[in-house]
Amino acid sequence: MSEHKWQRGDLLGVAELSTEEIVHVLDTAESFVEVAARPIKKVPTLRGKTVINLFFEASTRTRSSFEIAEKRLSADNVNFSTSGSSLSKGETLLDTTRNLEAMAPDLVVIRHAHPRVPHGLAERVGAGVVNAGDGAHEHPTQALLDAFTIRRHKGRVEGLRVAIVGDVAHSRVVRSNVLCLRKLGAEVTIAGPRTMMPEQPEALGARVAWSLEEAIAGADVIMMLRVQLERQARASFPSEREYFEFFGLTAGRLQAAADDAIIMHPGPMNRGIEIASEVADGPWSVILEQVANGVAVRMAVLYLLAGVKSGEGSA
Ligand code: CP
Repeated sequence: MSEHKWQRGDLLGVAELSTEEIVHVLDTAESFVEVAARPIKKVPTLRGKTVINLFFEASTRTRSSFEIAEKRLSADNVNFSTSGSSLSKGETLLDTTRNLEAMAPDLVVIRHAHPRVPHGLAERVGAGVVNAGDGAHEHPTQALLDAFTIRRHKGRVEGLRVAIVGDVAHSRVVRSNVLCLRKLGAEVTIAGPRTMMPEQPEALGARVAWSLEEAIAGADVIMMLRVQLERQARASFPSEREYFEFFGLTAGRLQAAADDAIIMHPGPMNRGIEIASEVADGPWSVILEQVANGVAVRMAVLYLLAGVKSGEGSA
């Protein structure tokens, strides 16, 4: 367990985290993994704490993972989404926030289509705020669970060659992952079609490759990104068949990676576009382990933030 003394009350992005803080979250998550194997999957750690989950964008993994993490920590939780709340009647986010604040939550988990909405929320509420994804900006708990999964498989992150391939321009996962993996000492390469790369891809802080083959050559970890059709006015590629031909990961192409390479994907997957089913379901895949590890990592984040917000601090 790291010696770091956790002092952060919000988790808004990996950009703000030090290497020591990242390692502390990962070490803390290790202690929560075994809860999933218990006959009664519950610890009293957050008994009496209230967590509000605000999801203004669709989610399967992140939302259910936070909900399960909160229940396993014995917190009371409430879920809001746009369609089921008064936001759909025209109430502003600020008014919604004020009303939620009046209910005295200890933590708020928020996903929103616009960058930095979680940061604005954190300035206005006393509760600890967790960014569960803000537009194409950051998805910090995804990066933390990805680093956790890599570390469990490889025993380390430092020195590993990690290739992140696909729709880089629209991905918050790539931004948080490049920051997190670089802080932990990995060599990160990003690649994608030119129409799906940002104008200055090198500004993300990773090596840039322009083909799948170049990106994954010798890679220890390959992370495939979802083509985010919902964030594009029109498709940035001529056809799904063509995308798969040039940037789809197949078992054949995987031969160029390290022999013990692992395959990751944050989900949801577009099978047959960015990844072949033979790879997604193959022996190299750790995609469902990422989902399982997400619960332990989110338990760690909630535990650490709640300790600071209650003034108790944490180990
Ligand atoms: N990885 C991820 O954020 O998945 P969801 O959109 O289903 O939450």
